[in-house]
Amino acid sequence: MHSIVITGGTPLNGKVACDGAKNAALPILAGALLTDGASRIWQVPDLADVHTMLDLLSSVGAHVERSDECVYVEASQLTPHVPYELARMMRASFLIMGPLLARLGEAFVPLPGGCAIGRRPVDLHLKGFEAMGATIHMDKGNIQAVAPHLHGADIYLDVPSVGATENIMMAACMAEGTTIIDNAAQEPEIVDLANFLNGAGARIRGAGTSRIKIEGVGCLKGADHTIIPDRIEAATYLVAGAATLGEVRVENVIPTHLTAVLAKLAECGFTIIAENSSIMIKSDTRPKPVSVKTLPYPGFPTDVQAPFASLCSLGTGTSIISETIFENRFGYVEELVRMGANIKVEGPNAIIEGVSRLEGANVQAGDLRGGAALCIAALAAEGTSHVTGVEHIERGYSDLVQKLRSLGAAISYSPDPEERFEVG
Ligand code: UD1
Repeated sequence: MHSIVITGGTPLNGKVACDGAKNAALPILAGALLTDGASRIWQVPDLADVHTMLDLLSSVGAHVERSDECVYVEASQLTPHVPYELARMMRASFLIMGPLLARLGEAFVPLPGGCAIGRRPVDLHLKGFEAMGATIHMDKGNIQAVAPHLHGADIYLDVPSVGATENIMMAACMAEGTTIIDNAAQEPEIVDLANFLNGAGARIRGAGTSRIKIEGVGCLKGADHTIIPDRIEAATYLVAGAATLGEVRVENVIPTHLTAVLAKLAECGFTIIAENSSIMIKSDTRPKPVSVKTLPYPGFPTDVQAPFASLCSLGTGTSIISETIFENRFGYVEELVRMGANIKVEGPNAIIEGVSRLEGANVQAGDLRGGAALCIAALAAEGTSHVTGVEHIERGYSDLVQKLRSLGAAISYSPDPEERFEVG
């Protein structure tokens, strides 16, 4: 079992550049299946979930090539069957259903897997497809959707699901007539997907608001597109800088995508300077206690909840973090407690009594962002920590170890990656 080894206590200092957003790259790569031309997509992050998506695209017949600079997808010939062994690896595999249904009139997709952060149904995706004329069959964990002719529909989402908004938006691009999604998710990644699809010939208006209108078109051609920067990665490095009492400049970022996170970091007492495409955070004292509630965008992102809890665990008083998006997203708390944090989970709330120091420990990441939270706590802690469950962290962060090391962290893989891949 490999781990990330961190000896904490060194303030992080310097600058670090964000990659393209994982949560924009995944739907955009799936969306490339809607086009029967070639698409070239820049700033696609090099991480495990993206590798899974590229394998998924190949598995349904797309021609995929990755160079250092961009990903090339050509999807003229497709099959509707998504293999279980790929679908189970991440929830975003389900984003292939909308494009396959629109292109082929049928799709067979196993129920998705993904991070262990609570019940994650796909009922809203399916209701949307049904409203557009699809028939859905479920059999032993496989979902079959059939719709020889998709038509436009008025669709209200009970909750503003990011994935359902994206999947329905993609299917609606090639439906006959107009689709309106109300109570749509408003995340920047949805706007990025709409921009990619519009570049390929789609007619989508209102992405980034709660009402999205999609006029179906006969076919989409390929498009060239650059993925937006990863706001969650940016938040992770800002929080790490703050927790270690350092000074970190995060580059390749769109500061307005981080308004809620920056507001809470400012409330903690840190100095923040946001410029056009960079954000600097400077911290020389422990954070003041804050209340944080996760909400759909533009509210505080659930994906930053765990990293923020690590920061609050070093606060000067009692912070309360309320999780309203996923019902089981405090799995990392037990591990933080092993490092000396004082946190009680009561229903959807984590009550965090700040402590003056954390201690290094052996801890296990159970999900992606929980894993990032443990790394942040380890960077701030006294002594050495071994964080296992690295495969979860690698799903969403490329070069985490190298990037943190460039900021001065004492961090490495154990065993060294070179040794990891030795045979015999
Ligand atoms: C996306 C992000 C994930 C982020 C989440 C919330 C990607 C690849 N992942 O996940 O990082 O944490 O948004 O910002 O973009 N729900 C239903 N029925 C459905 C779909 C969702 O009830 O059919 C519920 C979920 O259980 C959850 C809430 O809606 O409580 C939000 O989920 P959703 O926005 O769909 O998250 P994902 O798209 O899976």
